[in-house]
Amino acid sequence: MRISLGRDFARALDPCILARDCGIVPDATQSQLLTTTARKTLVCCCRQWGKSTITAIVALHEALYGAPAMVVVISPSQPQSTELFKKIHGFWEKLPGAPAAEQESLTRMELANGSRIISLPGSEKTVRGYSAATLVIMDEAARVPDELLASVRPMLATTSGRFIALSTPAGKRGWYYEQWERGEDWARFSVKGVDCARIAPAFLAEELQALGPLLYSQEYEIQFVDQNTSAFSTVLIEMALRDDFRPFI
Ligand SMILES: Nc1ncnc2c1ncn2[C@@H]1O[C@H](COP(=O)(O)OP(=O)(O)OP(=O)(O)O)[C@@H](O)[C@H]1O
Ligand SMILES: [Mg+2]
Repeated sequence: MRISLGRDFARALDPCILARDCGIVPDATQSQLLTTTARKTLVCCCRQWGKSTITAIVALHEALYGAPAMVVVISPSQPQSTELFKKIHGFWEKLPGAPAAEQESLTRMELANGSRIISLPGSEKTVRGYSAATLVIMDEAARVPDELLASVRPMLATTSGRFIALSTPAGKRGWYYEQWERGEDWARFSVKGVDCARIAPAFLAEELQALGPLLYSQEYEIQFVDQNTSAFSTVLIEMALRDDFRPFI
């Protein structure tokens, strides 16, 4: 199907217009995430805020207008990466005027404009085979082990490509927690359940009942909570490691 050059130009300039053409009217924070030009982005938002949906649009925008782009989608497991790939594929499929696919499978596609979108499992060995990505999207990033992150970073070395890591918190540990708390040069996006107009207060109340306060605070209040398996809380451990720490005796 043909679309007007003007519309295509508008989509290229503004990913929010692409989102609308894909049937998603972004809210204010989603619009900021769609339009940020930051090279490194951390998205730490509650469940169901739209992390996967919005980054799927970012991925599609890169593939359509950054050609020949190499978009890599990665997460702790292939099924999770495939879910995000399916979202990108779903938007592409329904978008009037999108370039045709030259190759397509359940996990990857190559477009007629030369752009590729590839979803990968969270395994270091597989990741090492890929390079020169222009955009890497890491879903469920708080659950991605540090070693996997280390093998993903070089993919962006030669392209100055963008890296977007999205997650809800998963404990006070690992690279995602460290970077969220102390990392430099990141654009950060964070939205709690109560601040998301698409999530009804009644649903949040049900979730609080079902999950209990600790898990609820992690999933909907985006709190990094200590794992119940820890013998000591992170605050205590951090205090104990401080030079000026004096035990309470
Ligand atoms: N701006 C929007 N307008 C309409 N629907 C939206 C919008 N943003 C997100 N959604 C819808 O909200 C639902 C949740 O989106 P999505 O799966 O992307 O969230 P998520 O943050 O990745 O969730 P999870 O933490 O469970 O992975 C989807 O049905 C999606 O279509
Ligand atoms: Mg998601």
